[in-house]
Amino acid sequence: MEILRMLKSDKVEVVSMAETASGHADYIKDIFDEWMESGVFLKAVIDGRIVGIIHVRVFKDFAWLEGLRVHISHRRRGIGRLLTLKAMGISRSKVIRLLIRKNNKPSLALATSLSFRQIDKIYYHGGTSKSFSEISMSLGLKRAKETLQCGYMDGWRWFPREYYLSSLFIGTSDNEEIVALETSPIFLVKGNIKGIEHASRNPRGGSCFIVLEYNSMDVVKLA
Ligand SMILES: CC(C)(COP(=O)(O)OP(=O)(O)OC[C@H]1O[C@@H](n2cnc3c(N)ncnc32)[C@H](O)[C@@H]1OP(=O)(O)O)[C@@H](O)C(=O)NCCC(=O)NCCS
Repeated sequence: MEILRMLKSDKVEVVSMAETASGHADYIKDIFDEWMESGVFLKAVIDGRIVGIIHVRVFKDFAWLEGLRVHISHRRRGIGRLLTLKAMGISRSKVIRLLIRKNNKPSLALATSLSFRQIDKIYYHGGTSKSFSEISMSLGLKRAKETLQCGYMDGWRWFPREYYLSSLFIGTSDNEEIVALETSPIFLVKGNIKGIEHASRNPRGGSCFIVLEYNSMDVVKLA
C-alpha cells in the first residue's frame, strides 16, 4: 500500500468510495475542490485503487484532521491508523484535533488507541442553511460586550476561544435568550434556533459530536 497526495483527477473515485464508506451521501463531494486547494489531502492506494482518504489542515498552533474514510472492503487492516499517523506526521504540530460523532464507535476506538482524548462536546442541529447575516437580520441580533469563554465550531472545525476575533451577539428566539457567534454555520453558545442549521452547546434535538485532542507533550510525559 502507498500513501500519496490526492490528485484533482481522483475526485470521481474518491466520492464513490466515500459514499460507500459512509453508507450515505457524503460531504466529501462538496468539499473535495476546497481540500485540494488548502491543507494536505492524502489517499491510500492498493493496486492502483483508492482505499482510504484523509485531509489535514494546519493552523497557528494546532492541526485539524478530517474526512477519514476507508473502503468498506479494506477495513480492520490498519489503513485508517496509517492514514491518521501519516497526516499527524505531515502536520508537524504538537497539538492535533478532530471531531467524531458520539455513536461512531470504530472511529472513536481508533482515535483513543492513538492517544487522542476528549476535550469538548458539541451538538449539531440540522435545518435550513442560512448565513449569519440572514439570521442576525431576522432575529435582530445585537453585539454584546462580553468575550467568548469557551471553544467553538466554525466551518465544522473546533477552535479554542482565542481564535474568535469577532463579537458575541445576543438576541431571543422562541422567547429564549441566545448568544451567537459569527461563524458558518452559526454557533450558539447559549440557546436554540429551531429549523435553522447550527452548532451549539445545547443537547436538545441535536446530534452529539466529540472533539478530541492529541497533545504530544502529554504523551511524552506519560511515556
Ligand atoms: C473509522 C474507519 C476510518 C477505521 O478505518 P480502518 O482502516 O478499518 O481502521 P484500522 O484498521 O486502522 O483500525 C485501527 C484501530 O481502530 C479501532 N477500530 C477500527 N474499526 C473498529 C471497529 N469496527 N470496532 C472497534 N474498533 C475499531 C481498533 O482499535 C483498531 O485497532 P485493531 O484493529 O488493532 O483492534 C473506518 O471504519 C471508516 O471508514 N468508517 C466510516 C467513515 C468514518 O466513520 N470516518 C471517520 C469520521 S470521523
